Amino acid sequence: MRHKHSDYMHWAKLHSSARFNLATSGVAAFPMRELPVSIEQLEINGDSAYGYAPLQQAIADKCGVDPDCVVAAAGTSMANHLAMAALLDPGDEVLIEHPTYELLTSAALYLGASVTTFARKEQDGYALDPAEILRVLTPKTKLIVLTNLHNPTSVRTPDYVLLEVGDLAKSVGAHVLVDEVYLDAVYENTPRTSFHLGPEFIVTNSLTKIYGLSGLRCGWILAQPDLARAMWRLNDLFESNRAHPVELLSVVAFQNLRAIRDRARKIVDADRILLNDFLSRQIGVSAVRTEFGTTSFLRLKKGDAERFLERLRTEYETSAVPGRFFGMSSHFRIGMGVDTEMFGEGLRRIALALAA
Ligand SMILES: Cc1ncc(COP(=O)(O)O)c(C=O)c1O
Repeated sequence: MRHKHSDYMHWAKLHSSARFNLATSGVAAFPMRELPVSIEQLEINGDSAYGYAPLQQAIADKCGVDPDCVVAAAGTSMANHLAMAALLDPGDEVLIEHPTYELLTSAALYLGASVTTFARKEQDGYALDPAEILRVLTPKTKLIVLTNLHNPTSVRTPDYVLLEVGDLAKSVGAHVLVDEVYLDAVYENTPRTSFHLGPEFIVTNSLTKIYGLSGLRCGWILAQPDLARAMWRLNDLFESNRAHPVELLSVVAFQNLRAIRDRARKIVDADRILLNDFLSRQIGVSAVRTEFGTTSFLRLKKGDAERFLERLRTEYETSAVPGRFFGMSSHFRIGMGVDTEMFGEGLRRIALALAA
């Protein structure tokens, strides 16, 4: 039987919410009323056979690539799925970072791939280490999968390390899939997409996590034109066309992207100050601190993290994502960028639960 579900997504949809919800990964929802658009600008149907041209151009401009390299998809979720589906056949070998975003593994398993993990070690600050990839790389490796920024830790991988990973991939004729859904949370000197590092790189992204526009499901893949064409053709089997009103709204979002990002940045920055203060005071937990990103991955130094999170929820009305979804059961992930008052109170309640 193939893998046909995601335990994490099921939990996230049905069980993650709480009065003090720190089980988030993206910023607060951007309200429709603040998008400068009127109903007259919208239309139900339009010319979006293999991409709506103005949206293709907007994504291409943002990423500094040719529109022929852009494949639109429903969020980074569908972008990851479509990219992997285009690249992989059943039995193909895929290397995925650990800890990782569970959906990357679930999608690869669903496609019948054989998944091997490579470690991002806590003692190394979760840095991506090409030597760990080399340890598991084989001539049969088809794809190396990673996130940048890293989910769950928000650790950033610099280009020189990505280039080394690209060289490893090239040595066996594989590709590197980089999920960059959190990359724009690097608010200063925002890095260019790793798509520019070489033809072996395939990148996925969307306007969800850092822009608060999840409902638009505006995602994309960047791939070399021949591969991008193959992805469009495969997408005919999945999604056919994107919803046109959403394509129109997405174009407006791209025209206002900086303001949309800045709005959320204020909350993320304020939350990070609270997080750093919390981490300095709490001896019961530890975490790798990062300058940017919307998530932090905390280790509970003593006790059972699952039981701790259960108590946190029932007695303190506060939620966080259990580390088991990332394959690390002594940890939990918390998210910034939604509401600083809620975040601060959530941290205060985590401190109370730790002290109890
Ligand atoms: C690494 C990563 N990729 C993709 C997604 C899903 O993104 P989207 O909402 O754009 O489908 C998430 C959501 O948590 C994520 O953490």
